[in-house]
Amino acid sequence: MLDRAFDSYDASPVEDAIQPPFPLLAARGLCFEAGGARLIDEVDLRLDAFGATVVMGPNGAGKSLLLRLLHGLIAPCAGELLWRGKAMGEAARRRQAMVFQRPVLLRRSAADNIDFALKLHRRADRDRRDMLLQHVGLLEKARQPARLLSGGEQQRLALARALATEPELLFLDEPTASLDPASTQMIETLVLAAKRNGVKIVFVTHDLGQAKRLADKILFLPGGRVAEHAPAARFFDRPTSEAARGYLEGRIVL
Ligand SMILES: Nc1ncnc2c1ncn2[C@@H]1O[C@H](COP(=O)(O)OP(=O)(O)OP(=O)(O)O)[C@@H](O)[C@H]1O
Ligand SMILES: [Mg+2]
Repeated sequence: MLDRAFDSYDASPVEDAIQPPFPLLAARGLCFEAGGARLIDEVDLRLDAFGATVVMGPNGAGKSLLLRLLHGLIAPCAGELLWRGKAMGEAARRRQAMVFQRPVLLRRSAADNIDFALKLHRRADRDRRDMLLQHVGLLEKARQPARLLSGGEQQRLALARALATEPELLFLDEPTASLDPASTQMIETLVLAAKRNGVKIVFVTHDLGQAKRLADKILFLPGGRVAEHAPAARFFDRPTSEAARGYLEGRIVL
């Protein structure tokens, strides 16, 4: 049924032809400073158009900041972002969506939250909204104010709203951090379905099992720098950096 959510996704053959050799999104020399501290330091990154890249790293490493920078929500103090090889602008940003670590929802009903996103993308469509609510198990709560939903329900609503806009790139910042196993599985199933439908996923998690279930690639980011960006199997079998080895063994890594 989720496939229907992407029926109208129209990947033009012409666009496909000009994709390679450009990555979907590239960062060059990306930096972010605050309070005199360099929090993101010279990040160079190429994100392929498909698959899931799971971002891992200790608390305070800069994972959320990096996602905000990549999504264009905050401005870097240096560096640039390229979308399919060209400077990333507003049009490219509208092809992306983000689910935040703490869900940010409108103080309106669950249904209104999705309608609002659809309207922003000029696609008001009640059937589609109801289908999305159904996918995340919230159709019965469509009229309930979003702020009265539980944490897990709010996170599922945030994911439904992000999917509503049919993004090419979906950022998810620890979307299951406080969810029970059933809600976590529901989110993972939706994310994997989106990935199968060609949506590029960038997913932050501290959960190693989840990273193994979802990831094609791992981006490991201790201390605001990229220590590894590797195929998931390689990363888990043979991490090359001392920081990643320590993190995987459960040692404190800064
Ligand atoms: N706007 C800001 N101004 C100053 N410092 C900030 C700002 N945003 C984040 N930081 C700091 O930058 C560092 C990285 O924060 P970030 O939220 O990206 O970490 P994280 O890797 O997502 O951590 P967690 O795993 O706990 O979510 C932290 O030390 C945080 O306090
Ligand atoms: Mg974070």
